[in-house]
Amino acid sequence: MLSELKPCGCAKEEDQGGIERRMQYIKDTRSHNPHLILVDTGDHFNEPTRQGKLKAETLLIATEKMQYDAVALGDRDMVYGPQFLKERNQIPWIAGNLLIDQFEPIRSKVKVFSNGLKVGIIAIADPDLFYDHVGLKITDPKQTARKLITHMRETENPNLIVLLSHAEKQAALEYLDLDGVDVVINGHIVTETDVIDLKPVRKNGKLFVQSSSRGQKMGELRAQFDPQGNKSLSHQLVKLDSSVKFDPEMVKLYEQYNEKVEAMFFETLTGKRNGRNKSVYAGDIRCKTCHPAEHTVWSGSRHARAYDTLRKINKAFDPECLGCHVVGFNLTGGFISELDTPALKNVQCEVCHGPGRSHASAPQTGFGGQAKEACKQCHVKNHSPRFNFADYWPKIKH
Ligand code: HEC
Ligand code: HEC
Ligand code: HEC
Ligand code: HEC
Repeated sequence: MLSELKPCGCAKEEDQGGIERRMQYIKDTRSHNPHLILVDTGDHFNEPTRQGKLKAETLLIATEKMQYDAVALGDRDMVYGPQFLKERNQIPWIAGNLLIDQFEPIRSKVKVFSNGLKVGIIAIADPDLFYDHVGLKITDPKQTARKLITHMRETENPNLIVLLSHAEKQAALEYLDLDGVDVVINGHIVTETDVIDLKPVRKNGKLFVQSSSRGQKMGELRAQFDPQGNKSLSHQLVKLDSSVKFDPEMVKLYEQYNEKVEAMFFETLTGKRNGRNKSVYAGDIRCKTCHPAEHTVWSGSRHARAYDTLRKINKAFDPECLGCHVVGFNLTGGFISELDTPALKNVQCEVCHGPGRSHASAPQTGFGGQAKEACKQCHVKNHSPRFNFADYWPKIKH
């Protein structure tokens, strides 16, 4: 759900996930476990911007290459329309109760292993999560699931049935009571910062688990069958952290994405340059003339190197990074590019004290008093999980 192509690297503890590690993990797991099923519960796409779409495309190409057995559809997956999904025709989209114009995902699937074991997969989504989409009809999830299960049992009669659900946890827990279902894997996310309770729930020998957000972890579920056909299920979450290597093919795919983002960045510069002369910002060198002591402290802080941090990892053109690593990105008169606005690189005085051009020409007391409030614009959970003002302020106090 909302998985990242690559973690931003802002904070070590959030440095998990990414397609490069996920692919490597999948390959390793496949090579040790021939009887493997790989599933995904949906909600792939973030906000529908131009860059968002580029990201979505890259993510789906990666998903295609990872050779999932079933990929369920969530409410967020509709944002670019069915054609967008259809184009990735190697992805085994699955949706039991979503009736989509001009797009026919599979309704159910049974995977038969070389040892004769059969695992059935179905997917249902909670209609309440979907806005009215033209060309989308949603049938009752439980009724649909019952029909699909009955049909499966009458035909292939799988040893295990896995239901992929796209719903709020409470609603999804009810699907565990459906006759025939052994495992419910639920996924649904509203924003990236949502905290998801990942604790599995057991009930009458059945198991309910949730997918983690931002592709940071992989859920591993083991099913064992004794000769009498009794099943036992176990589950664990695996962090995709720095102990997992990068898959070279995905590294390449990510580089291609980066190149496209860079091209897009330079394309949008022309439009932004028109507003350059109106800048409300003065730049740190102006502030230095009258506040040399503050400037010295600031120069020694990491804020003064925030742009270099991006440049070192070839990310100084990515709008998704610049916003917190320079002054006023995407704001009138703010940072455009290193070439256009060299004086507005890094996290400068005016990021916290506010635009200061008029203060610099006619100084007054009382300027920039809201600086304390600025921290939380950038020191958010996903990028700075340990932030609290009392610990951080002393490190940059001036
Ligand atoms: C919402 C604001 C925000 C965004 C967006 C953001 N960063 Fe950061 N970044 C931060 C903050 C805050 C820190 C400092 C974290 C800390 O130490 O608590 C940081 C730190 C870093 C560091 C660590 C520097 C070091 O020397 O340890 C790297 C690398 C980094 N960011 C890269 C990126 C990249 C790449 C992107 C885009 C994919 C990005 N950032 C997007 C806020 C952001
Ligand atoms: C990361 C945010 C941040 C940056 C960057 C920053 N400041 Fe500050 N600054 C603050 C905060 C917070 C305070 C304390 C305000 C308070 O005590 O209410 C402060 C205090 C000050 C004060 C003293 C105000 C007073 O009431 O005594 C001055 C002057 C000042 N900063 C100037 C600068 C200059 C010049 C720069 C750049 C060279 C700069 N600051 C960079 C956040 C920042
Ligand atoms: C031409 C000199 C000059 C420049 C340039 C200048 N300041 Fe000031 N700044 C002052 C004076 C004078 C004061 C009032 C200090 C006082 O009376 O205590 C002040 C006060 C401040 C205060 C504290 C306000 C308060 O009430 O204590 C902050 C914060 C501040 N400046 C930030 C900046 C920033 C950021 C820049 C650059 C954008 C900047 N200044 C540029 C002269 C300047
Ligand atoms: C515009 C975004 C932004 C704002 C606003 C901001 N920061 Fe930061 N901060 C960053 C980034 C980005 C980094 C990492 C820079 C790097 O290392 O490349 C950082 C790093 C830091 C660090 C260094 C962390 C460490 O472990 O050494 C401290 C301390 C810090 N910020 C404190 C603050 C405080 C306090 C405020 C508010 C007064 C604040 N920041 C406001 C973006 C911001």
